[in-house]
Amino acid sequence: MPGTMDWNKLWQDARTRKTWKKKKKGDWDRRAAGFAKRNRDSDYAEQFLQLMKPQSHWRVLDVGCGPGTLAIPMAGQVKSVTALDFSSAMLNELRQKAIDKKISNVYPLQACWTDNWLELDIQPHEVAVSSRSLSVFDLKGALEKLNSWALEKVFIADRLGSGPFDPDLFAALNRPFDPGPDYIFTVNILYQMGIHPSIDYIEVDSEKTFRSRDEAVAGCRWMFDDLSPAEEKNLAAFVDERLEKKKDGHFSLKRRLPVKWAFISWNK
Ligand SMILES: C[S@@+](CC[C@H](N)C(=O)[O-])C[C@H]1O[C@@H](n2cnc3c(N)ncnc32)[C@H](O)[C@@H]1O
Repeated sequence: MPGTMDWNKLWQDARTRKTWKKKKKGDWDRRAAGFAKRNRDSDYAEQFLQLMKPQSHWRVLDVGCGPGTLAIPMAGQVKSVTALDFSSAMLNELRQKAIDKKISNVYPLQACWTDNWLELDIQPHEVAVSSRSLSVFDLKGALEKLNSWALEKVFIADRLGSGPFDPDLFAALNRPFDPGPDYIFTVNILYQMGIHPSIDYIEVDSEKTFRSRDEAVAGCRWMFDDLSPAEEKNLAAFVDERLEKKKDGHFSLKRRLPVKWAFISWNK
């Protein structure tokens, strides 16, 4: 019975089994530059913004904003963006992009999902966003927070299945793979909160273009924290088998399974 099951507890239990363990602030700091680079060539933000349809009167609270994947392209279409993240390195990436693009209505804020947002004086915004940033222990608490800080709308992008990870690569390295619980837990918790959201899907990056073979290897390498020298070799062989050199000198890497995100939204 969806009405009586404790989906937050089921979410917490399922997370203990996942391959990609919870990342602390320092882990995200280390990943900031690589994450920003990988996102530069993806049309994820474009697809998200097409579904979101930003409006000029919106003040947007972007929780887990990362390097500004959405905050930067959105800035010209909304009144302002409060870009919240606990990683200072991610926020530095965002600050640099804002300077480069002469953007002055994006306000970085270093804070955590679990901080007391009232004490931090974070005001309600017309819109609250969580894009690929719901990797939290207390999912229900995070959803309640997004809902209470939004005056008009909430937008979430949540992982569907393996999300950005490539199960074929894990298999090639003989590594077990469990992506952990996905968006369906979010939808069930929302249901129990009395919220019946709209759901769309974003599909990206089934083919990625790289400037070099090394860049293509790095585009896969991030999925693992620790690789033995033998596994490094297997990873390079996996990439080489799939890499195609294009006429313009670039390299194209195709995945069998596309990367999918659930785009979940509701009105207040
Ligand atoms: C996968 S990135 C997504 C970034 C961006 N929203 C996007 O869609 O590209 C997840 C982001 O959430 C941030 N994050 C993770 N846990 C957090 C927490 N507990 N509080 C605040 N930010 C957090 C990370 O630092 C990282 O920047």
